[in-house]
Amino acid sequence: MADLPIDPKKLPVHVAFIMDDNGRWAQRRGLPRHLGHKAACMRLSSLLRHCRDLGIKVTSFFAFSTENWNRPKDEIDHLMEYLWMFFQNNIDELVKSGTKVYVSGERDRLPKDTLEICDRAVELTKDNDRFAFNICLDYGGRDEIVRAARLFASDCLEGKAKPSDLTEQSFRSYLFAPDLPDVDLLIRTSGEERLSNYLLYEIAYSEFVFANVYWPDFDDRELDKCLVEYSKRNRRFGGLSRG
Ligand code: IPE
Ligand code: IPE
Ligand code: MG
Repeated sequence: MADLPIDPKKLPVHVAFIMDDNGRWAQRRGLPRHLGHKAACMRLSSLLRHCRDLGIKVTSFFAFSTENWNRPKDEIDHLMEYLWMFFQNNIDELVKSGTKVYVSGERDRLPKDTLEICDRAVELTKDNDRFAFNICLDYGGRDEIVRAARLFASDCLEGKAKPSDLTEQSFRSYLFAPDLPDVDLLIRTSGEERLSNYLLYEIAYSEFVFANVYWPDFDDRELDKCLVEYSKRNRRFGGLSRG
């Protein structure tokens, strides 16, 4: 167990990360952009371990957006290769640590070997229940909501659902990872302060922390700082402040 930087009662259940600034991290070192994605995958492995050590139950990581297909093919190919390596290197640890893997996003455009290793990780960890690791790959928040609406409409046409029965809660069953709780803390590295189409339904009442650090440099101590910042926030959910 790592030393907790905060009162355990103030630990977020679900932390979502926007892993940004990988390309600039590499360019600043005179390296090709794709090596930033390689360093990013290494950072992802070590941070995932730190989250588990701290006792953070659920983590989501934004690895590739629906808009990232606009990048050069060479960069995308490298990124997919590094993600494949990430799963290859971490699959045993995910299984042994009791982590259930979720892959959120569209499937059709992903390379076959990326899809295969993702499916393998999901299958091998499907009965785990200590931690959840959600990787968002070819993921867009609007895409997720539109897809959910389409699935709901199909259920209505087939007589399995009725428009008048739909609630905010039941709508979740059409999302990519229906059983995960809402995001408590959203962290974006790079100093950029935007969502870039991430988890739009799930972040309705999340706390945001924007860390002015390149993702490959976002180490365990940087995460601890974000948790301290989070622990000072007063979450009201539309109600009144306590104390
Ligand atoms: C984030 O890093 C990873 C992806 C978007 C795939 P970037 O590749 O966006 O790095 P910067 O923001 O260009 O530095
Ligand atoms: C968001 O980063 C997507 C991921 C981290 C995967 P981007 O670099 O794509 O976001 P923008 O383009 O700066 O908004
Ligand atoms: Mg970026």
